[in-house]
Amino acid sequence: MAKVTIDGHMIEVPDGTTILQAARMLVDKNPEVDAKVAPPTMCYYSKLKTSGGYCRTCVVKVTKGSEKDPRPMPKPVASCRTNVMDGMEVVNITSPEVLEARKGVVEFLLINHPLDCPICDQAGECHLQDLGYEHGLAKTRYDFSRRTFNLIDIGPYIKLHMTRCIMCFRCIKVADQITNNRFQGMLFRGDASEISTYIEKAIDNDFSGNVIDVCPVGALTDRTFRFKSRVWFTKPMDAHRNCTKCSGKVAIWMKGNEVLRVTARKDQWGEAIDWICNDCRFEKKDAKDWVIEKPSHISRHSVISQNHYENLAQLKLDIGKQQKQIAAKK
Ligand code: SF4
Ligand code: FES
Repeated sequence: MAKVTIDGHMIEVPDGTTILQAARMLVDKNPEVDAKVAPPTMCYYSKLKTSGGYCRTCVVKVTKGSEKDPRPMPKPVASCRTNVMDGMEVVNITSPEVLEARKGVVEFLLINHPLDCPICDQAGECHLQDLGYEHGLAKTRYDFSRRTFNLIDIGPYIKLHMTRCIMCFRCIKVADQITNNRFQGMLFRGDASEISTYIEKAIDNDFSGNVIDVCPVGALTDRTFRFKSRVWFTKPMDAHRNCTKCSGKVAIWMKGNEVLRVTARKDQWGEAIDWICNDCRFEKKDAKDWVIEKPSHISRHSVISQNHYENLAQLKLDIGKQQKQIAAKK
């Protein structure tokens, strides 16, 4: 076991745990710890082996290497790829240097990413949108022309906007690890990199739709949902059905009685809890197909949770309290 201190909070974790996993454990076990102590991630995905190490969003500073060798690490490190050592001390949100470094990473991620948010289906649940808002610059210093690509239909269900892709490799790992055949990958290098259109062949697989859920931006979107509604006008509900291919446990996004889209349920880190099959995701768009359980809990602070029914109840309580205070003062 190793004792590690992150932003002043100590936790003991098994050897071999990464700083990022330790920070997530810290937040999971201690509700009073600010969730932001866990660094943001754009490429790491706990359910995908070998993910992480590409985007640098999760950088932190190691101010003490270990009990045995207390020297600090000379530069910020990717927390998703750095293991903890006994006695290690790490700073994340308490370090202006880390926040400055992260700002630089966001600027890099946004170099080619178009600010399509007003017309992008991912708006409201886009991790890059949140990251840009919390850690980014309002302006870009990039003067060169941006990369442009034509839109690609990856079969009847998925649309690829290569211009929005941030090269996180998650969809490639899904195709590699979740589906039976991998027909897709990253072509070329550096500025010329792109997701290979061979991905079109992966659509035959029952689980290929999961690439939509793992994509942190709007590069891979659900063609059955495109432009139907902004996500914050829909109500996510936990629902299930008997499915022979997957667990059948999903979130259905409803407007009135209409099911506009179906996704995997997500945990508080925005990761799919269970992979779901294409039948559940794309073919079951009738409320009668589902047993509806309850409103989905949206744990990410996102525009979807604003004015949401859970928050509305709290808002009503707050307003009631304020009204009573005002009346008492009169
Ligand atoms: S398409 Fe999405 S999931 Fe795939 S590499 Fe690009 S950003 Fe990542
Ligand atoms: S999340 Fe760690 S490098 Fe991308």
